[in-house]
Amino acid sequence: IRMQQIMAKVKAEDISHWDTYEYEGVAMWPDVLPSTLDDLKTFEVRHDDVFIVTYPKAGTTWVQEIMSCVLHDGNIERISKRHTFKRVPFLEMTTGGAVHNDLPRVHKMISWMPRSSPRLIKSHLQAQLLPPQVWEKKVKLVYVIRNPKDVATSYFHHCQIMNPQRTLDWDEYFHRFHTGTVGFGKWWEHYLYFWERRNEDHILLLRFEDIKKDLRGTVQRISNFLGKSFSDDVIDDITDHCTFENMKKNPMTNPDTLLHKIFGEQEGRSFMRKGGVGDWKAHLSESQGKAIDDLCRDKLTSHGLTFN
Ligand code: A3P
Repeated sequence: IRMQQIMAKVKAEDISHWDTYEYEGVAMWPDVLPSTLDDLKTFEVRHDDVFIVTYPKAGTTWVQEIMSCVLHDGNIERISKRHTFKRVPFLEMTTGGAVHNDLPRVHKMISWMPRSSPRLIKSHLQAQLLPPQVWEKKVKLVYVIRNPKDVATSYFHHCQIMNPQRTLDWDEYFHRFHTGTVGFGKWWEHYLYFWERRNEDHILLLRFEDIKKDLRGTVQRISNFLGKSFSDDVIDDITDHCTFENMKKNPMTNPDTLLHKIFGEQEGRSFMRKGGVGDWKAHLSESQGKAIDDLCRDKLTSHGLTFN
């Protein structure tokens, strides 16, 4: 009944990103349908599919754009004909079929799968909810980790963009982020699975903070990982295309292009917000910062995963 109530809301396009439901123990926003998650268990993965997987706000759009450039051999003119959200399908919004007919516009816009290979596919799902064939076929997968305090900050702003009518209370939001009851669940669980597998050949684990420090080196790493060898000029072109400033001013890489159409233009709010490291200091109170530190120490430090 609860799910039906939530879906009724979704249909009315009153998408409340505050109502989550649980799917196999993971909190989900209502626009990710349980039937879609069921369908993904038999999703046919191709051997040459490439995945970009993240906890939301860890740098998905940034890395997917680099990967898209690489998979198109640095032909930026070609990829610039389509928006990055349309080039890179969002897996849990994309299994197609009847379920999607019930969804609001936002998801219809991205609910398709390209026919041609290789497909670059984005997902925010925890590892155990990804299609099992991802693991059976060991397809290439890039995973991005970001300091959870910056993720918390970025996710808060993201929720505001998606809920323009609602004023969100930071403390309430933070409590939910801290307890893993925002969509896509507990960030520490999300991180840990991939962190533990970071040395497997088909996985490339990147950190947002390292990409920020060395974008060109990251482009080179991703190219190598995807089996490409480019001239310095091509690496330079991709690097230049993927700077924060250039992605923000390019309508084909700035998500605002599509989001504004759906949620309306919102003064002072942009998906391409700051794109930096450490903005959490302007948002988290001392005790909130400590709460994240404690969680990291409890859940991640013993596995060797730490944050500055
Ligand atoms: P901020 O909100 O901190 O600015 P995702 O794509 O996973 O939703 O992550 C969005 C975050 O990545 C936002 O962080 C956004 O500004 C940042 N981002 C996107 N493209 C970027 C780029 N080219 N360089 C740096 N940060 C980028």
